[in-house]
Amino acid sequence: MKILGIETSCDETAAAVVSKERDNIKVLSNIVSSQIDIHKKYGGVIPEIAAREHVLQILPIIDKALNKAGINHKKLDAIAVASGPGLITSLQTGVETAKSLAFAWNKPIIPVNHVEAHIYSGFIDNYKKIKFPALVLTVSGGHTNLVFMRRHGKYEKAGETRDDAAGEAFDKAAKLMNIGYPGGPVVSAEAEKISNIQYPISNISLPRPMMHTKDFDFSFSGLKTALLYELRKDKDWKKKVPDYCHEFQQAVIDVLVYKTIKAAKKFKAKSVILTGGVSANQELRRQLEESVCRDLDKVEFFTPQFAYTTDNAAMVAMAGLFHFISGDISDWRKVSADCNFEL
Ligand code: KG4
Ligand code: ZN
Repeated sequence: MKILGIETSCDETAAAVVSKERDNIKVLSNIVSSQIDIHKKYGGVIPEIAAREHVLQILPIIDKALNKAGINHKKLDAIAVASGPGLITSLQTGVETAKSLAFAWNKPIIPVNHVEAHIYSGFIDNYKKIKFPALVLTVSGGHTNLVFMRRHGKYEKAGETRDDAAGEAFDKAAKLMNIGYPGGPVVSAEAEKISNIQYPISNISLPRPMMHTKDFDFSFSGLKTALLYELRKDKDWKKKVPDYCHEFQQAVIDVLVYKTIKAAKKFKAKSVILTGGVSANQELRRQLEESVCRDLDKVEFFTPQFAYTTDNAAMVAMAGLFHFISGDISDWRKVSADCNFEL
């Protein structure tokens, strides 16, 4: 069984091939063309520029993915494509290309929800080990979701952000301090500079929004505003960027870890899975794993290898593979990009 995955939800053009031989799932290729360098100078993704770049990249990237996998299209069983949510003008390139190829090659097509794809990134190397029910925390530039899974393909939303996503909060914090884009990697690199100094390193203190509310929702926009007010009060903030980054990062981690552990207890999860672009954050990975081991009995922690944390197509192909196995396939006539695609 071989599935081609296509991903163009935001600013990454990506294609990948995933195979399943008996009980063995393998990523045969995973090609990503990131537009970070193009959008960097604007401090954020410009939809019009992203759309134009996807159009230029999509076919060469698919061609590379097939070549790297050592197959031609005849060997494919289906084409999986992230069809939403995302930027509509970005999604359209991936979806219309997938439809054209499905038409030309006479293959079934599998529309995949982008958040579901992130969830499945956690299964890529661990699908045999993950026990259900599982609780999945997906933290990215566009999403912060706690999802409860009783089995493959069955999702119950436990909580989500009410405003900014966790990754968006990192991006906005970096913008306030003018330290670069995307914010996650630069904020964590700054925070790391002081990791050897005993905590608390300074008297900077930011709130932990919604940490003790009864639900499993999140809110990060107030945290960004709190950072803005702290910076305004402090004439010397430019000399303390690592301290501010450390405290900001820790505030986000504290809330994410606390609510994930609480939800895992409530839903009696046997596995906790951390996915999405923000799961590239070393401290978040480390602290959530530590809490799962310490606070939950016989619960295992899983998180994808770095290549599958930020947007990629291996995760789309992986989610597509599970749809294919359960006979959930479609036809190019019925698929279109949909930015309101609910999980
Ligand atoms: O999953 P992703 O590539 O795109 C979306 O689906 O949104 O996630 C991108 C987000 C960005 O907001 C970026 O700042 C964040 O992931 N990110 C990180 C790190 N690396 C990327 N956030 C925190 N720490 C990191 N090391
Ligand atoms: Zn994503």
